[in-house]
This record gives sequence, C-alpha cells and structure tokens, in this order.
Amino acid sequence: MSTYEHATGAPCTADTADDLAEQDLYASWEISRRSFLVSAAAVGTSAAAGMAHAESSAHPKVAEAHTMPMELRINGETHRLTLDTRTTLLDTLREHLHLTGSKKGCDHGQCGACTVLVDGRRVNSCLLLAASAMGSEITTIEGLSNGDDLHPAQESFLEHDAFQCGYCTPGQICSTVALMDELKRGDASVVSFESGHREGVPPLTDEEIRERMSGNLCRCGAYPNIVAAVRAVTKGAGA
Ligand code: FES
Ligand code: FES
Repeated sequence: MSTYEHATGAPCTADTADDLAEQDLYASWEISRRSFLVSAAAVGTSAAAGMAHAESSAHPKVAEAHTMPMELRINGETHRLTLDTRTTLLDTLREHLHLTGSKKGCDHGQCGACTVLVDGRRVNSCLLLAASAMGSEITTIEGLSNGDDLHPAQESFLEHDAFQCGYCTPGQICSTVALMDELKRGDASVVSFESGHREGVPPLTDEEIRERMSGNLCRCGAYPNIVAAVRAVTKGAGA
C-alpha cells in the first residue's frame, strides 16, 4: 500500500515521490490527449457543416426545367413537340425526332458535323436552340434527296469518293448545298475580296472552295476529294 496520494484521489501505487510525480504527469497527458481528440472531432464536424454550407452557396440549385410546346418545320413536315426550352436543334433532331443524319462532333460549333439548312442558310444546329428555329424551314441531310433520287451534291460526293468514315459527310453535303446558293447570289468570301473580286459570281477556285467549306472539318482528311466533289457539283449547277 502506497503512502502517497494523487491530488485527484485516484488509487496510487507510487513508492517514491518521483514515482508519484511521474504518474501525475502521465495522467495529465492522458487528460490532454482526450481533450484534444474531443475538440478535434468537434472542429471536424463544424468544418464539414461549414463546407457543406459553402458548397451549397457556391453551387446554387440548378434551375428547374421549363418546357414549352414547339412547332418545327423539318424537311417539309410539321412536328409538334413539348421540349425543354434549352434543347438545341441538334438534340431535337437526333434525340426527339430520330433524324440521326446530322452528327454531333464537338457540340461547340467548331466542327460542322451538325450542319443543317435553316431557311436555306447553313447553321451549326448544336448552337441553335430549337425554340429559335420555330417559323423557319429546316432541311437536314434526310430531306435533300427525293426518295431514291439523290441531291446532285450527294451524287457528287459519291462519285468523287469524298469521304472515308462518313461522319462529317452529312454536314459537308449540307454546306455544299448552301454554298451553291451563296455562289449563285454572288456572296463574296474573304478569298473573293483578297483576289480583288467585288461583283457577280466569284470565280470558283479551289482556294475559294476551301475557304467556303472551312467550317466543316474532316478527321479522315478526305479534303482533296471533297474539294473535287464541290467543284464538280457547283460547276454543274452553273455557278
Ligand atoms: S457538333 Fe456542331 S459544330 Fe461540331
Ligand atoms: S470522312 Fe471521316 S471525318 Fe470526314
């Protein structure tokens, strides 16, 4: 039985004053360690709560979808749909109407795979909201042929082997159709200006074709044959 006593009144086994001091020291460390762990847990919990709050204020709730009825004229037919107002024309064509000829390449207006005609002008349908196309005549690659009779631009691409995988081809052909009309109207390009052309139908050089088709990329590099196909069909159309 020890003759010493801890200040806390806890049972004491110390034989000497040094033993007693040592045991008191360890006991105080143990108390400090426990207090530290309790405080750390409390800090962790409040930090997590704080972060959750910060995150919820940094990322406000995504706005709820708003739908609206839309009427779209596509390839001569009227389609009535109720769509999220944020739906692009490309997604409308592919996901809602199953017109999958128009392709999604970049979805950022950079590759031209999604090119369609809106009132005869070429547009990147990935950048156009379907709601904005209401009241316009939309033509996709599916609407260019007349049954089994292909459009001359389609014939020309086939004849000149102007594709490899074919992914960019619907967009290339839609662009070609618009290009033919642009030439007939006498619309000038940068190349036309730089070559001094100011009026009438610009001469159809290969440089002119490349410039006018520069919004349509071909990952397979079928460019020489695409230029040949465009040159042939535009000349055949009297451009
Ligand atoms: S998918 Fe539209 S420009 Fe690439
Ligand atoms: S033919 Fe393959 S991307 Fe143009």
